[in-house]
Amino acid sequence: MSGRIAVGVSGTGSNLRALVAAATRGELGGDVILVFADRACPALDWAAEQGIETILVPGGDDEVLAETLQAVRPDVVVLAGYLRLIGPAVLAAFDGRILNVHPSLLPTFPGMHAVRDALAAGVAVTGVTVHLVDATLDGGPIVAQEAVPVLVDDDEATLFARIHPVEHRLLPAAVTALLAGALHVAPGARRARLDASVMDASAPLPR
Ligand code: GRF
Repeated sequence: MSGRIAVGVSGTGSNLRALVAAATRGELGGDVILVFADRACPALDWAAEQGIETILVPGGDDEVLAETLQAVRPDVVVLAGYLRLIGPAVLAAFDGRILNVHPSLLPTFPGMHAVRDALAAGVAVTGVTVHLVDATLDGGPIVAQEAVPVLVDDDEATLFARIHPVEHRLLPAAVTALLAGALHVAPGARRARLDASVMDASAPLPR
């Protein structure tokens, strides 16, 4: 059975394109059936051009978004550069089924400016985190992480250029695992457990 994936965006949409490409290659275990945004943005325009159903929910209104999402019955909701906190109505409707990608090794550098903050802190290593979304800011159970080196001469653009390809690999892999029913979170756990027995042996997430 093919999973139904709703993707939230606010910006350029490179992670959305990576998800759609993975779905087209048959690697995702599902299809992107809705792209939603809290603002007009290139990612929403691109989705419409691809013939994907799109919806703009100004300001990301929680009740409106919850109704909108429930109407299309997604199995998974993916935040791919969606720059709003998810509210209680959406969380209640899709608890444990919302993924976010973040450009740092959480819990270090949460928030809107993770790459800028990593550069300002002078760290030699940052990275990418994919996590399940809960009511905290970038604080839900961690699904996958990968380190990315910070070079001495990096600026935001050069560091993002190294982070993005990692995001484009980890996020689709996490979606595949969630759709396959391979992710489990014990009560109170800060890290999701991947059940390798239900995943293909070549699944790229760390076991
Ligand atoms: C990504 O770096 C993601 O980690 C962050 O927002 C950015 C979105 O990029 N949450 P894009 O719109 O997918 O290109």
